[in-house]
Amino acid sequence: MNHDKLIIRPANTNDAPRILKHLKTVGDESDFLTFNSAYIKITVEEEEEIITAHNSTDNQLLFIAEYEAEIIGVSNLMASQKPRLRHIGDIGISVIQKYWGNGVGGKMIEYLINWAKKGEIITKINLIVQQDNIGAYKLYEKLGFEKEGELRRALFIDGVYYDAYYMGLVL
Ligand SMILES: CC(C)(COP(=O)(O)OP(=O)(O)OC[C@H]1O[C@@H](n2cnc3c(N)ncnc32)[C@H](O)[C@@H]1OP(=O)(O)O)[C@@H](O)C(=O)NCCC(=O)NCCS
Repeated sequence: MNHDKLIIRPANTNDAPRILKHLKTVGDESDFLTFNSAYIKITVEEEEEIITAHNSTDNQLLFIAEYEAEIIGVSNLMASQKPRLRHIGDIGISVIQKYWGNGVGGKMIEYLINWAKKGEIITKINLIVQQDNIGAYKLYEKLGFEKEGELRRALFIDGVYYDAYYMGLVL
């Protein structure tokens, strides 16, 4: 993979159809997300609204990784607008399986951390990672996230419960 061709940037409403396609793809590539393709029933218009909702606040971000005109990664930081919670962002991230292990996920989270630091609003980033998602756990640990707790029965997939860890990064 030629990293010079990797573009990481905030999403805009024109990206909505390709983001939906990406989410459907990654949803079926692993059992490490909270959804699979069958769950993605939202329309392009609804996805556009989600992008706009992120863009219209100063403590949330929906961004993508593009490689050779294809969206290969999508991530978002969601945050409350309540004054007492505005400093906390929750991460979601997915990279197309074909590109796993190439440093894309790491670059995306570094991008997010830099964005949050510049904004000076988000001072804590949280995430939930399934305990058997070793790759993601190692990635977060490498970027400075610490395990803060455990969550029993975090997911229920095909009749099986999965436990998860809470991880957090203080900026
Ligand atoms: C988790 C995910 C986003 C990581 O993206 P990625 O582009 O593969 O990650 P990177 O290539 O940047 O990985 C960087 C580091 O993560 C760790 N890592 C990643 N995959 C790993 C694996 N399978 N085993 C061990 N460590 C792994 C390593 O520390 C690696 O650093 P190194 O290359 O210096 O060894 C991607 O695998 C993915 O989308 N998975 C499916 C959805 C998912 O699990 N989302 C997260 C839910 S919490």
